[in-house]
Amino acid sequence: MGEYKNIILEFDPPAAILKVNRPRALNALNPETIRELSEALDEILNHKEIRGVILTGEGEKAFIAGADISRMPDMSPQEAERFAEEGQKLTLKMEEYPLPIIAAVNGYALGGGTELALACDFIYASPKAVFGQPEVNLGIIPGFGGTQRLARVVGVNQAMEIILTGRHIPAEEAYRIGLVNKLVEGDLIEEAKKTISEIAGRGPLAVMYAKKAVRRGLELAIEAGLELERSLFGLVFASEDRIEGVKAFLEKRKPEFKGK
Ligand code: CAA
Repeated sequence: MGEYKNIILEFDPPAAILKVNRPRALNALNPETIRELSEALDEILNHKEIRGVILTGEGEKAFIAGADISRMPDMSPQEAERFAEEGQKLTLKMEEYPLPIIAAVNGYALGGGTELALACDFIYASPKAVFGQPEVNLGIIPGFGGTQRLARVVGVNQAMEIILTGRHIPAEEAYRIGLVNKLVEGDLIEEAKKTISEIAGRGPLAVMYAKKAVRRGLELAIEAGLELERSLFGLVFASEDRIEGVKAFLEKRKPEFKGK
């Protein structure tokens, strides 16, 4: 198992729980933390019993309070661009990741925090969660995909208001505008684990191809998206899981998927 300084990786099959662990800096993302998150995602794939990942923050207060501002005073424009590139690469890796990733937003998710949550497949949040893109307060702009993904998730006008004002978005509002799928009063991680267990009962290849079709399709014209969908639809028909899934339905029993 990898040695991590800034994150905690826990295995609770079928879920892996990835926690940013810098509570004294409200889990702000420095380059080391971004690298460790990326390495942990690779490590998780060696554990075949894991069927989904939960991304959350350690401590009572924060999911991720954004990029680490303490590193910014001395950053040159070139270094800033490279930093944004590293953060963006992590978000792309999350979107391309073969397993579902759920953001369990337990507190402040500002700047890079909202941006990492947006790169997850969907978001559950505690009622005390706070979202936002406060970069304009610092005289900078979002750099880990916020200007691109927020509008795709909540629509252009909502995204514009959030990004141009930099204001805090309380959990209830985030839920209302469709940024958050579910507000969880009780144990947020348990709720996310329940969803991963539900997904773990489905065909693993089907889940992987379905995520891929949705993610890739979002960036394509409808004809190309539909073409991608039908080729993946064909591909999944080559699997043993398809034979088992269809047979189990017709025999009125639960399928036993093998991920083959
Ligand atoms: N980077 C570095 N340190 C941070 C941080 C961040 N993003 N957010 C909080 N911290 C640190 C604080 O400096 C403070 O450290 P000290 O105890 O050493 O002083 C500690 O975490 C606790 O924070 P506060 O005392 O500020 O706590 P609070 O309860 O008064 O406020 C908060 C909480 C509203 C989240 C406030 O900390 C805050 O506004 N944080 C900054 C949020 C932000 O602007 N994020 C965007 C960053 S830029 C970005 O993310 C760009 C991008 O797109 C990649």
